[in-house]
Amino acid sequence: MTDRKGVFITLEGGEGTGKSTQLKLLSQTLTEAGIANITTKEPGGTEIGQELRRILVTGDKDKCDAVAEALLYYADRRIHLTTKIWPALEKGCWVLSDRFADSTVAYQYYGYNKRISQEMLDDLYRMSVGKFKPDMTILLDIDPRIGLERSLKKAQGMSVKETRHESRGIEFHNNLRAGYLEMAAREPERFVVLNADKSIEDLHKDIVKNVSERFGLSLCRK
Ligand code: TMP
Repeated sequence: MTDRKGVFITLEGGEGTGKSTQLKLLSQTLTEAGIANITTKEPGGTEIGQELRRILVTGDKDKCDAVAEALLYYADRRIHLTTKIWPALEKGCWVLSDRFADSTVAYQYYGYNKRISQEMLDDLYRMSVGKFKPDMTILLDIDPRIGLERSLKKAQGMSVKETRHESRGIEFHNNLRAGYLEMAAREPERFVVLNADKSIEDLHKDIVKNVSERFGLSLCRK
């Protein structure tokens, strides 16, 4: 991208952390403060991405391996960046994304117990994203047993079951949680880690406080 005028914030975490709800609430709070923003997600933030999302998050957990998954997530990401994220940031709009590249490291690298190499993921990042990074990453942390229960309960009411990753064993989810925490510890200037095992309102307050502090704003909460 050429010139970033907006701010790029990503929300990360395992299953059932409430990311999408929190993203909507943060977006509302920013809009009320007069900050133009869009919300988006990975996979599936674009039309082609929606098709990739169907492949990636539904069906048999073993239908493709970690390398194929990483390639597909990066195809989704590249389209997402070039057609949605970068154009919005160039216009000065803030972009709030439910997941970004940290998800690939957490799921395809740590989740699969490092069955693919970190170098491969670094190469994919360099090729597809370059030096671009989120300005802030909010990691919503929760015990995977609680998160998975929430997530599977939510999926019960849905016609299309997006539970391909939920169906992996608890070890996969414990690994990816530990991986996220390691990543956050390596880049404390970008990450903030918040306990997601609390009410929607309390978690929103924590997020608003951290975003306000990080960007020198005085955001008010409803
Ligand atoms: P979500 O919209 O509920 O977060 O679902 C997206 C699923 O895709 C979730 O299980 C995490 C997974 N995922 C990866 O495995 N790697 C990635 O790079 C991304 C963006 C998501």
